[in-house]
Amino acid sequence: MLTSKTAGSARAVARGLARPLGLVPTMGALHAGHRSLLDRARRENESVAASLFVNPMQFAPDEDYSRYPRSFESDAAQFESAGVELLYAPSVDEMYPEGFSTSVDVGEIGKTFEGAARPGHFAGVATVVAKLLNAIEPTRLYLGQKDIQQTAVLRRMIRDLDLAVEIVVCPTVRESDGLALSSRNAYLDERQRAAAPSFQRALAALAESIEMGDDSNVALMAARLLLESPLSWEYLAVVDPLTFELHEKLRRPALVVGAVRAGSTRLVDNVVVRTADGVDPILTPPLVQAAGRG
Ligand code: PAJ
Repeated sequence: MLTSKTAGSARAVARGLARPLGLVPTMGALHAGHRSLLDRARRENESVAASLFVNPMQFAPDEDYSRYPRSFESDAAQFESAGVELLYAPSVDEMYPEGFSTSVDVGEIGKTFEGAARPGHFAGVATVVAKLLNAIEPTRLYLGQKDIQQTAVLRRMIRDLDLAVEIVVCPTVRESDGLALSSRNAYLDERQRAAAPSFQRALAALAESIEMGDDSNVALMAARLLLESPLSWEYLAVVDPLTFELHEKLRRPALVVGAVRAGSTRLVDNVVVRTADGVDPILTPPLVQAAGRG
């Protein structure tokens, strides 16, 4: 595995890699969720690149940028053992040199839900991913369903700016009790961790009610009650899977999105409501053609 610290050297290395080339962008602190993206990229491509960059532009001033977990050595070892050929790990100064002032604004879809709770967050995500795509020029971009609004924002950016990359959305990896893996789970204390699975249960219950055709307001209220203390709701909603607009009436497919607060930690998660004939509107089906070293 080659590690590049600058966009120029990453691009030079990437241009020498066989195509198709899969890119898995991360902020490090790797867990089984990240590894599932790396494994899938390895299976579906001739070459795999990853990035490790804790992006200050997507954290608000009052957020956890400085305390975000950092573990470069063990992350690098995991990227290597996952078969990554190129790791792009730039410094903040390399990514945002003196005088940096350009940003990518995806409009309304970046301003609701997570975008409302975290102003500027999606401009930070879209800008850094645009830069990563320019540095690596991958065939495919691997993203997790866990951060579903992020995938919708990036899909919009890629379409609107005619970027030549294909998005692959991979399923959320969960603990055995249902809690979605997240680097931020490490912040939870014992009581918060014990209550955390009730968040996923509430989302799943709401999705199930929609599948049964229940009244949406009643279903929303019932699902809200399933959240256990000390967690509290930030939002719980049923939206269109692509635009993130609120579903006023129960319709399928749909996406149940939620965020809860556990002390100063926020957890986000989502559950898909499939179409009546079982089509998942979010996940990319595995590519048939298996390539690479397998
Ligand atoms: P990070 O939080 O490190 O996540 C990197 C990728 O792993 C994202 O696509 C995310 O959706 C995916 N992921 C996280 N938890 C997952 C889980 N439990 N199951 C499956 N996939 C999971 O998301 C970011 O970094 C950043 O915003 C980034 C895209 C790198 C831009 O800075």
